[in-house]
Amino acid sequence: DFMREMSGLSNMEKELKSLLGISRVLIVPQNSDDIPAVKSNIGKEAARLLEAKFPLYKKIAVTGGSTMAAISKEIASDKRDSSLQFIAARGGLGEDVLHQANTIASLFAEKTSGAVKTLYLPDHLSAEAYEMMMREPVIKEMMELYDQTQVVVHGIGNAEEIALQRKSSFEEVEKIRAGEAVSEAFGYYFDKNGNVVYRIRTAGIQIEQVQKAPFILAVAGGRSKAKAILSYFKIAPEQTVLITDEGAARKIIELT
Ligand code: G3H
Repeated sequence: DFMREMSGLSNMEKELKSLLGISRVLIVPQNSDDIPAVKSNIGKEAARLLEAKFPLYKKIAVTGGSTMAAISKEIASDKRDSSLQFIAARGGLGEDVLHQANTIASLFAEKTSGAVKTLYLPDHLSAEAYEMMMREPVIKEMMELYDQTQVVVHGIGNAEEIALQRKSSFEEVEKIRAGEAVSEAFGYYFDKNGNVVYRIRTAGIQIEQVQKAPFILAVAGGRSKAKAILSYFKIAPEQTVLITDEGAARKIIELT
């Protein structure tokens, strides 16, 4: 729109879109590292975009984080559709309950009168517990849902920050450091070239399932996330739309 043209944001959107090789980039003004309201604006843009997809896509997987929580607050309660199904992309990952995928999926469902599928599992399973868990019928059912997912909405985090926030074990933090992980998305950790260097051992959506979803919405802003965004977008599918802020966008352009 006019404001975007005036501020040069629409040029930056085009530049980032081709730089990251994805279908669309939306940039909200200012930097969410400095101004918390900017994160709400990312949430607002994401909510409008997602609502526009409701008539087309019904099975929507959502992850956790504060940016995801910002979207759930902005979903308009007049966009009711009981055929929508919100699927928690993972169990709780040790973060604040309000920022867990289960909570966010429930909020989306409540706002839209849609259904919700949650996944309550411990975060860090032993190899044996993991094997057993994956054979449980409820888990199998979730895995089938992930396979049918049409939309994935996810945040992107700074790898080390996320690892510490989630009270990961010493061993995990070591693996993340040794692999030089830069970013994290849906439980996967990526290095600067987009290689998966670590993943959390718990039931959750698999990267292959994310990649085959027809529509993916990634939300991440703040100058401090520029490197993480660049890292994840080395492998992000083309059908991804990124909603970010000016802080991150300027820094990404600086870095490339
Ligand atoms: O997976 C990414 C992180 O959960 C993002 O969290 O939106 O609170 O920065 P955030």
